[in-house]
Formats: sequence, structure tokens, C-alpha cells
Amino acid sequence: MAEQKTSGEAGPVTVATLRSMAEAGRKIACLTAYDASFAALVDEAGTDLVLVGDSLGMVVQGHTTTVPVTVDDIVYHASMVARGLKRAFLVADMPFASFATPDQALASAARLMQQGGAQMVKLEGQLGQAGIVERLAMSDIPVCAHLGLRPQSIHKMGAYRVHGKGAEASDRLLADALKFQEAGADLLLLECVSSAAAARITQAVEVPVIGIGAGPAVDGQILVLYDVIGVTRGRLPRFARNFAAEGRAPDEAVRAYVEAVRDGSYPAPEHGFA
Ligand code: KIV
Repeated sequence: MAEQKTSGEAGPVTVATLRSMAEAGRKIACLTAYDASFAALVDEAGTDLVLVGDSLGMVVQGHTTTVPVTVDDIVYHASMVARGLKRAFLVADMPFASFATPDQALASAARLMQQGGAQMVKLEGQLGQAGIVERLAMSDIPVCAHLGLRPQSIHKMGAYRVHGKGAEASDRLLADALKFQEAGADLLLLECVSSAAAARITQAVEVPVIGIGAGPAVDGQILVLYDVIGVTRGRLPRFARNFAAEGRAPDEAVRAYVEAVRDGSYPAPEHGFA
């Protein structure tokens, strides 16, 4: 049997594990998964955190955006993923319009945790939602605040773009990150954020910061599983890397990804944004 490349942390990963890894400078390797078989595969490869992302709307359901994904969808996929995991920490996405008020957010998060088996919920946060994070945190629900590019806002924004470029935008993003931390977020996720802004935020906050297209200075990396194992058709986003490209089988590709996150060889400069 191939050697398991874990962070060196024994036992199931918890919020405390993620924090101690970040404090010790040990990179956190994260991936999405949507079913029990792939969950087991990424878990065995040493992935620390598995996200049931609303990206499932695009990569599993075939939609062009994540907007159609429902709480029922996430509960269904999270419950399958939960059955496949032994060690990794399970995070589930709060889908579009499932957290418009504190009460609705609490009801949605409770379903993701009680029926889906999630250990943390992730929400795409605008500053107005700091109160929502506070409400969830008060109910002992671990929260990841997703900042930078927020795909659920595509119809409002009109296009996907890089965030935190330039001093003013970087200041704004840093202020948002601090606000979400203060509201009780246990984890931050930065998507498509300039590497310099992401480094600044990671330095300034106490909670671990996971990046996707946010450069190398963050505490951990996440990618969509299908990009890593070569299942995605067409061009990959600039920040992604197909680890199966050299002819690796899916489990080998995931192990190579975990190892590259750990040793800092992924992301390379060409995966980041100035
Ligand atoms: O939905 C998702 O898979 C995500 C990741 C891309 C971070 O939010």
C-alpha cells in the first residue's frame, strides 16, 4: 500500500488542528468532493479538509453557475461525503440565498450539520453578512467566510474578476477579513485574490486562511477535485493544476497535489495574480 502523506497530525482533523497547523507553518491541503468514493480517495491521500462546495452545481449537475444549487443538494452530497471520510475535516457550502437572514442561516446551517454531517459551514460573505456569521458562531456553528471572488454573485457582478488589486482594494479586503474574524469566523477562504493582498490578510488575522488563486503565502490551498484529477473538460482556471496530466491515476494525482501543497511547490508563481 502507498504511504499516506498526512500533515503528521494524528486523529481526525478539527478546527484546533487547522489552527495549530497554520501556527506551525504546516500547509493545509484541501479539496472538494461530492460523493463517498472520492471522499475516501482524498481522505486516504492525506487531504486535511474536504469541502462539499456549491461548485457541484457546475461540475456534477452541469449548470453554468452555482446559483441553482439548493440546501437539499448540499445535504445530499455532504451526507455521502461524510460516509467516506475518516480523518479529513468536512465543510459544506451554504448555497445561494440560503442565509439571507440570521434565522434562515441558522436553519440552513443546522440542516448541513445535522443531516449532512458537516463540521463547518462556508458562506460567501459580503460585509453585511458579518451579523449572520455572528449568529452562527453564537450557536456554536463553525464558519468559514469566503471572500474575494464570490461565484454566487455572478449575476450581480457580471463577470469573474481578481480582487484586492491595488492599495485601496487590498485595504478593503483586509478590513472585511478582520470584520469576519471579529464576528466569529474560524476560517477564511480567499478566492482569486492578488497574492500581495492575500499575504497581508494572512499576516493580519489569527484564523487560518485557505486560498484558491490567492498565491503561496496563505495557510492552505483548495482546488476543485475534478481539476486536480483531470476530469474537467476544456481550459482550467489559471490558478488550477491538473496533477493527472503526467499520466497519474486519480489517487496518485491527489497524493501529488497534497504533497505539492505541503512542500510549497503548488501554487507556483504562474498560478497567482499580481
Ligand atoms: O464551491 C466550491 O467548490 C468552492 C471552492 C472553489 C473554494 O467554493
